[in-house]
Amino acid sequence: MTTNQNNEIYNPPKEIVENANVQEYEKLYQYSIEHREEFWAEQAEQLEWYKKWDKVLDDSQAPFYKWFVGAQTNIIHNAIDRHLKTATRNKLALLWEGEDGEVRPYTYHALNREVSQFANILKSMGVKKGDIVTIYMPQIPELIFAMLACAKIGAAHSVVYGGFSSDALLERIQDAKSRVIITADGGYRRGKATRLKEIVNKAIEMCSVAEVVITVKRTGEEVHMQNDRDYWYHDLKALPVANAKCETEVMNSDDMLFLLYTSGSTGKPKGLVHTHGGYSVYTSTTHRMVFDIKPEDRFWCAADPGWITGHSYIVYGPLINGATIFSYEGAPNHPYPDRWWKMVEKYGINILYTSPTAIRGLMRYGESWVERHDISSLRLLGSVGEPINPEAWKWYHRVVGKEKCPIMDTWWQTETGGFMITPLPITPLKPGSATKPFFGNEIAVVDDDGNEVAAGEEGNLVIKSPWPGMTCCINKDKERFYETYWKRFEKQGWYSAGDAARKDKDGYFWIIGRTDDVIKVSGYRLGTAEIESALVSHPLVSEAAAIALPHELKGNAIHAFVILKHGVEGSKELGTELKDHVAKVMGPIAKPEAVNFVDGLPKTRSGKIMRRVLKARALGEDEGDLSTLEE
Ligand code: PRX
Repeated sequence: MTTNQNNEIYNPPKEIVENANVQEYEKLYQYSIEHREEFWAEQAEQLEWYKKWDKVLDDSQAPFYKWFVGAQTNIIHNAIDRHLKTATRNKLALLWEGEDGEVRPYTYHALNREVSQFANILKSMGVKKGDIVTIYMPQIPELIFAMLACAKIGAAHSVVYGGFSSDALLERIQDAKSRVIITADGGYRRGKATRLKEIVNKAIEMCSVAEVVITVKRTGEEVHMQNDRDYWYHDLKALPVANAKCETEVMNSDDMLFLLYTSGSTGKPKGLVHTHGGYSVYTSTTHRMVFDIKPEDRFWCAADPGWITGHSYIVYGPLINGATIFSYEGAPNHPYPDRWWKMVEKYGINILYTSPTAIRGLMRYGESWVERHDISSLRLLGSVGEPINPEAWKWYHRVVGKEKCPIMDTWWQTETGGFMITPLPITPLKPGSATKPFFGNEIAVVDDDGNEVAAGEEGNLVIKSPWPGMTCCINKDKERFYETYWKRFEKQGWYSAGDAARKDKDGYFWIIGRTDDVIKVSGYRLGTAEIESALVSHPLVSEAAAIALPHELKGNAIHAFVILKHGVEGSKELGTELKDHVAKVMGPIAKPEAVNFVDGLPKTRSGKIMRRVLKARALGEDEGDLSTLEE
């Protein structure tokens, strides 16, 4: 894979520019920087509020910023309730296709009924405002209903990605203190039924906080249900208590909407908190402006709802904008590599938003699979999660977009809630660049002292100004929040993104990748410390280090360096066993590509593993400054 930084420019087609929701960037950007609060107040005015704000931004406790202070709302009011009063009521909110071909359509009216029923069920199980409900589900409509139902009654959801192991799930249930868990018997992936309920059962065996498990039936495979703990969703739905009328709880703007765990530089995942007010405004504004949403559009964000991309751009942003969301349960190549294109054709999808890994994966099968289908309904494309290499970008543009669909390469993070650096449909594009900051955001590339580096030079990506989508904190850990994001540039008060980037002479940003101990594998975010502690939990391992090395398909792959216990010999079999062990402890996405047995690891005098040195050695590159390396 190569990264380019040349000046090849792709101008957007005239029809796109003429019809774009936002017609001009520079002037509006300037205005949004000089009048940040006015700009965001104008966006917030497009939503309905139970009570409007007294102040747009309270920065008196920075970096603990508060947005729309004094306002009352509930994201569900804007995502569902207000649409019931207009013609949107009878419009499709969600069109879902299962991997097995089952199709389920829901209008906004039907969505409201589903969500209200689920909300009443949660209430009957004792869920109250302020509780955190853990959701561990496959990609089925009930996952979306469950999230929305929690929000509706003022409970926060913590969605744990269905690919995580029982250990990872348990850790997250305990940290969130979730009394109620929502899951399914399983889902379909590549024609096979996954067994999610079994993983839940295993996770909560030893857990004292989880008391109630609600299970949606999807695959019909046999599962173990325990009396007084386990309830089938369809049984509860048949009870009178599950009626389809439920008041939406009035929330303060800064009340917690959800908690989402993500990997950081320590072994313990961070529970990032997003709130009702600022997040509503940020996700809907970015979605409307960047994906240029029109009332008749069918929007497909092909992420998993278990990640931030799914939260912001499958669920909340599009629903607030009254859009029709398309969602698909399974693998892109099942039963054949044209599955996605077949669905784009069948449903007339207009906008497709996915990851570079998925694009590279589909590209591998060749153009003929795309060409079998009429996908001319596509108008815009999107990419997220990792840098997109120009080859994949050009393939996506030419083969999928037929050279008429601009690609929105959106840079953002779980922490930012929504797009931070992104093109608009009117932006001239450079393949591999996420282009320019979204409105209101001052973003720079700086050296370790905070000085802006010269055009084209690599440096640290920082965000200099607050934005409404920003996470307000790490659950119950203000100190870690400060340490992780704000301490590095505390003198300047900037948010440190943990990414390396370049800004070219035209002001276009080129993201290089993480500078901290986070690895992006197929766009999934994993912490090296989590992988290392999984390796060390194996009885034959004494010490371990994990690094990311470039991979054709996944962007990065995990390479582990392991010191075995005294007297233990490394072997191919043990290598395989260790890979499987990590997959079992963390989940299959964390499985290392390679395990190398070593006698020692490069460390600083204070005992910190120098992963940078390992990486340079593996790539045959210059090892850089070794002055802190222990003899
Ligand atoms: O390294 C950047 C990469 O993904 C990181 C954030 O990961 P996560 O919180 O899981 O959120 C992913 C979905 C928003 C960033 O620090 N990243 C995300 N989008 C891009 C990207 N790298 C390059 N280009 C992007 N468009």
